[in-house]
Amino acid sequence: MKLSYPKKKKETTILKKSGKGKLRIIEGDTTSLNKLIYGDNLSSMKCLINDYGYKGKIDLVYIDPPFSTNNTFRINGKRASTISSSRDGETAYTDNLIGQDFIEFLRERVILLKELMSDRASIYLHIDYKIGHYVKVMMDEIFGIKNFRNDITRIKCNPKNFKRKGYGNIKDLILFYTKSDNFTFNEPRIPYTKEDIKRLYSKIDENGRRYTTIPIHAPGETKNGESSKKWKGMKPPIGRHWRIKPKELDKLESKGLIEWSKNNNPRQIIYADERESRGKYIQDIWEYKDPQYPKYPTEKNKSLLDLIIKTSSNEDDVLLDCFSGSGTTLLSANRQNRRWVGIDNSSKSIDVIKSELEKLDNTLFHESQYGYYEHSDI
Ligand SMILES: C[S@@+](CC[C@H](N)C(=O)[O-])C[C@H]1O[C@@H](n2cnc3c(N)ncnc32)[C@H](O)[C@@H]1O
Repeated sequence: MKLSYPKKKKETTILKKSGKGKLRIIEGDTTSLNKLIYGDNLSSMKCLINDYGYKGKIDLVYIDPPFSTNNTFRINGKRASTISSSRDGETAYTDNLIGQDFIEFLRERVILLKELMSDRASIYLHIDYKIGHYVKVMMDEIFGIKNFRNDITRIKCNPKNFKRKGYGNIKDLILFYTKSDNFTFNEPRIPYTKEDIKRLYSKIDENGRRYTTIPIHAPGETKNGESSKKWKGMKPPIGRHWRIKPKELDKLESKGLIEWSKNNNPRQIIYADERESRGKYIQDIWEYKDPQYPKYPTEKNKSLLDLIIKTSSNEDDVLLDCFSGSGTTLLSANRQNRRWVGIDNSSKSIDVIKSELEKLDNTLFHESQYGYYEHSDI
């Protein structure tokens, strides 16, 4: 299956096309670990690949491109406005590519991002529900469906009253892909709430300990081997095998960790107090509302970026956001001791990022490790 549209270029043409212009260093020096680039991201990424040796060096990409909304996003004094009808304030950026022009714009950039990514790298692409499904097909083509990991639903706001006929939209999506099977993933866990514990561990033993039970057999019959043998004179039910070898089941039983139901069905006991400290797995619906008073339009929640960066990179890894906006990704990367490269072609974005970097104290942000570049066509 492929996305097909008249303006679609060949991948080889996109990769072969030599970059336009150069990156000029304005502050810092060329060896700086962290780089902020003012310029178009396509030409700037070509420079990173051709002149700065970044091919295969990026360990994590997060991008939050324009969503093809046909809107203009403005900054009004210190406030950012995402209301396109507002004529006040200065333009931060315009989002006016639609249909195939938008898809091809994004596709060219994602193809270069893949070139920049290391073998263990991940990419998270933030997009909305209107165009997101075309972007999913585009991403499948570039990374291969086998490298598609998640379509994360992000709850972005509270339910609101709306005029249109249809259901209210409170979510957008984040498509998560990796370059290979061997990707960095620091399994994220969050603490159980009291309600979780009550719901998941609903039974209480004679000592007042909360517990639950799980089956000791699982689907799939094995003809030979330990997991098909009798335990306590019983074979596993038809079409199933013992999840735990009979010898280990004996050990569990001697520790009082098998519960027999009224109709003689054995189940393993799991105590809440032994599992609680591990925390619970994070699922694919995330609630991270964006800042109420953003410094820049469409500024994302910083905890959302903290989670992505903690999960999909390690200290000293190099991160890239080529639609940096207010620099949410770069600042989170900095806080978590990762190196970063940020690109944006809006002077407003660069102003906001620079002023946020200045606010960081010296232990978090080392001027000496930072270079500011501008892309020029000549
Ligand atoms: C949705 S905003 C990103 C917001 C950001 N995630 C944040 O948390 O603040 C998209 C950004 O992409 C930038 N952008 C759009 N087209 C670009 C291009 N061709 N090259 C570089 N930046 C671009 C816009 O200037 C804008 O700042």
